Amino acid sequence: MIEIKTPAEIESMRRASRLVAEVLLLLKARVKPGVSTAELDSFAEKRVREAGAVPAFLGYRGYPATLCVSINEEIVHGIPSPKRIIKEGDIVSLDMGAVCDGFYGDAALTVAAGEISGQAKRLMDVTRISLEMGLSAVKAGARLGDVSHAVEKYAVENGMSVVREFTGHGIGRHLHEEPSIPNYGKPGTGPLLKAGMTLAIEPMLCLGRAEVVVKNDGWTAVSADGSLSAHYEHTIAVTEDGCDILSKAG
Ligand code: MF3
Ligand code: CO
Repeated sequence: MIEIKTPAEIESMRRASRLVAEVLLLLKARVKPGVSTAELDSFAEKRVREAGAVPAFLGYRGYPATLCVSINEEIVHGIPSPKRIIKEGDIVSLDMGAVCDGFYGDAALTVAAGEISGQAKRLMDVTRISLEMGLSAVKAGARLGDVSHAVEKYAVENGMSVVREFTGHGIGRHLHEEPSIPNYGKPGTGPLLKAGMTLAIEPMLCLGRAEVVVKNDGWTAVSADGSLSAHYEHTIAVTEDGCDILSKAG
């Protein structure tokens, strides 16, 4: 069952999601060569708690941090560490969730550390735009497969591969709700979208092949061929004529 949220519930999700977006923007400015991923994590946790919210990932299935920081060939779920130092040319994916009044917000973006390669820049652009393409396909009356297909089509047409092991998801009173939202699919298939459904759409693309290996920390997912990966995510509400992006900085 895909839950429909009330306008008041959506406003709580907007508070959580907006906070996530604002903290991600602050973090973006702090991604620089020489900074450790643990420093980013403690900054994020402090900001979330100062805002009276709760980090959503910390303790989720035993995940040990507020932030996921996934660098270069790391796709998602990189665990922050004081030993992991960002270096010039890295692409750094930051993924964070927060809870306000019992409702979740979840968003991600990828940031360049200093000067990056043209290939890396293109991967980031294509991933960001593939999310926009997915969002453009959202409206009441559309099917989930329309959204998945829009992401996949843009990614593949632009030479990138789509990670299949991880998906977007419904979100609300829980971090992960129905439906699961693959970044590939067939138009006209899947659940019908209705106004008030709240979704986290999150393309993860690779420059090379999209096969995934999980490292022996049990979390960090990397591309099997070592190719660069990027990740963008928004929490949105479906509306009659499109979508309301909840994870926008105010
Ligand atoms: N945005 C990711 C997701 O929706 C991040 C989850 S990290 C975890 O699955 F630690 F919470 F699992
Ligand atoms: Co998510």
